[in-house]
Amino acid sequence: MSKVLTNTFSSLSRNQIANKLAKKYGLKFGASRFVAGDNISDAVKHVRALNNNGMAAMLNYLGEFVTSEEEADLATENCIRTLDAINKYGLDCNLTVKPTSLGLDLDKEVTLTNLKKILDVAKEYDNFVRVEMEDYSHCQVTLEIFKELKAEYDNVGTVLQAYLYRTEKDIDDLNRYNANLRLVKGAYNEPPNIAFPNKAEVDESYEAIIKTHLLNGNYAGVASHDPKIIREVIKFTKENNISKGQFEFQMLYGIRPELQRKLAENGYKMRVYVPYGIDWFGYFMRRLAERPENVSFVLKNTIKK
Ligand code: FDA
Repeated sequence: MSKVLTNTFSSLSRNQIANKLAKKYGLKFGASRFVAGDNISDAVKHVRALNNNGMAAMLNYLGEFVTSEEEADLATENCIRTLDAINKYGLDCNLTVKPTSLGLDLDKEVTLTNLKKILDVAKEYDNFVRVEMEDYSHCQVTLEIFKELKAEYDNVGTVLQAYLYRTEKDIDDLNRYNANLRLVKGAYNEPPNIAFPNKAEVDESYEAIIKTHLLNGNYAGVASHDPKIIREVIKFTKENNISKGQFEFQMLYGIRPELQRKLAENGYKMRVYVPYGIDWFGYFMRRLAERPENVSFVLKNTIKK
């Protein structure tokens, strides 16, 4: 049953008609548990509250399925406005962005140009931008873009996914760039010829890439809600004298807030991923696909309305 629900939510997340309809009708079905609002003022409020509780944040202006340069330009403008707001309100917060929202399905060069516009503004504000990793079909081109950007900018990072077989090699390759990497298990439904099909194998690969990346002396964003992984990272960094300044924990807005607070109280850098904007549907469906137990929560919210 759980597998059926996971597949259903995964395919809904990619359904362009559902995504377009959702944009029109605003946050529904309890999506506000995971999405901080549809405008920048709401997002700023949530980030400020996190900062007041000793946590950093990263803002993501939600967007996927961009099919024209105009839409990609608009997303770029919204990213720049987000950086402006972070600077204006003095927030402890950086920016995280999906390359398809900036035109990756249209053209690599368009995406590069848009990312450079964003990175120029971020540099002016002494801020940092992370280029996220989406499904496998975008993996190679995203890494090429990251490497091109890294030759010009210090304030850029990207993401590697533990479920892909190729990631072990990518960790070694990106070591040459001293890459600041967010490391995740992986959120997309990938076939067994490119990704580990079993959770235990993904978890094992995840631990391994985190350790390699840290031992290589690079900065890691350990992006997971898995208490076992978090305990292991704490133990490993203590045993290997890796300072708390070389990594941060990252979690999604609305997931395990008590663990987020506890880590911050214990002196670990805790950065919360705060998504906002009208294009909330695909993101929300992926959160349900990760944990179909959230469906009962959605149903309760739907019935209440
Ligand atoms: P796992 O799935 O094993 O879950 C461990 C525990 O966490 C669960 O038992 C549950 O308690 C809790 N949990 C996890 N997901 C939950 C949910 N949706 N609702 C409620 N509880 C939940 N992926 C990607 O492919 N590209 C990317 O760029 C990113 N970026 C990113 C940023 C940040 C800050 C985070 C935290 C995650 C991502 N991801 C991502 C998603 C990531 O790949 C992965 O799908 C999720 O983090 C779930 O995996 P966990 O490591 O949390 O472990």
